[in-house]
Amino acid sequence: MSKVYPIGILGCGDYLRWEHGNIKKSRRVHAKSLFDPAAQRAAHYAEFFGAQTADSADAIFDDDEIEIVLIFTPPWVRKDLVLRAVETGKHIITVKPLAPNLAEATAMVRAVNGKVDCAVFYRRTGNAQVETLKRIFESGEIGRMALYREDWLHHYPTWNKWATDPAKNGGPFMDAMVHNLNIARYLAGAEASACAFFSDNHAQHLQCNDTESMKVDFENGASALLFITWAADLEIYDATKNDREHIDIWYMITDQGWYVTLDGGNVKASKDGQVKSWPVGGVPGTPYERFVAALEAGAPQPCGLVDAWKDIAIMDAAARNVGRTVPLDLTPPSDKPPPAHH
Ligand SMILES: NC(=O)c1ccc[n+]([C@@H]2O[C@H](COP(=O)([O-])OP(=O)(O)OC[C@H]3O[C@@H](n4cnc5c(N)ncnc54)[C@H](O)[C@@H]3O)[C@@H](O)[C@H]2O)c1
Repeated sequence: MSKVYPIGILGCGDYLRWEHGNIKKSRRVHAKSLFDPAAQRAAHYAEFFGAQTADSADAIFDDDEIEIVLIFTPPWVRKDLVLRAVETGKHIITVKPLAPNLAEATAMVRAVNGKVDCAVFYRRTGNAQVETLKRIFESGEIGRMALYREDWLHHYPTWNKWATDPAKNGGPFMDAMVHNLNIARYLAGAEASACAFFSDNHAQHLQCNDTESMKVDFENGASALLFITWAADLEIYDATKNDREHIDIWYMITDQGWYVTLDGGNVKASKDGQVKSWPVGGVPGTPYERFVAALEAGAPQPCGLVDAWKDIAIMDAAARNVGRTVPLDLTPPSDKPPPAHH
């Protein structure tokens, strides 16, 4: 019988709405205890899982039976919880964007530093389309990915107040396009070496700009062009959750000139009238099973903390150099000496 890990859940908002089915389905974790300062949210999911509610985050960290914590709080309330998890020896599953700024992301990387496992969930996590694309590019059958292009259009987030506050979240790129920055980096199969970022406001009156884009160059000559806008008042189906019209324009081109798109359940590549097609294969188990498998094998997590830190490091360099191409140094902070204190 495989061990089933009791988990604690911190943050029972909209992201847990997406994830609660996977958690319940997983045969390797079971929810023991949930905390949210909005107590009725924790109570709602405690009932769903047959779990208990906790009176504080500390009640979860101080519970010796709990070995893994899910930190599903907004980015601006993540760092202290991650540090507390490390102090109390709990493994961590958290979610993008890792932090609202590089200083907090770096503090988390320095604190974790191999002491516990930490995974950061993204759109890429357990994404069968992305894994199929990765296999195709690595097989060499149509060449490697040379150009990644993705445009996302939706209404700005309405189900919370923090997502449009640059100090708490960072704007549309950090909030959402960071998913595709992470996918593009994964598919490029080479380190990002430079980026150029643009941030403008066209139609909304938010604390953040409504339109952002980035070009990322990779060491192997590939580039990604990523564009997001919240300028259009696209349809909102339910303002209390992330339930809105979503326009996604997504394609790739390989260094052999193949145009690659997703077509229903297939990856499709075309070149000069030829067409190739591959079914999108499934990814077995839930992300929670894969987290436990990596933990028990002592293997790297599929999308670990340092990988998520790199997205924040790119965003930081980009936002400090709007409109200019800036070279990137993505040496993880755990490989660098800590800063001197004066
Ligand atoms: N909602 C989505 O569609 C979605 C998708 C992918 C990733 N995410 C990411 O998930 C994270 C959470 O987003 P969300 O949409 O669930 O936000 P949300 O505002 O709906 O929920 C966040 C919850 O965290 C709780 N919280 C705040 N401080 C806390 C603390 N100290 N301890 C415990 N709980 C606390 C809040 O009360 C709230 O219930 C963000 O990083 C977001 O980018 C969200």
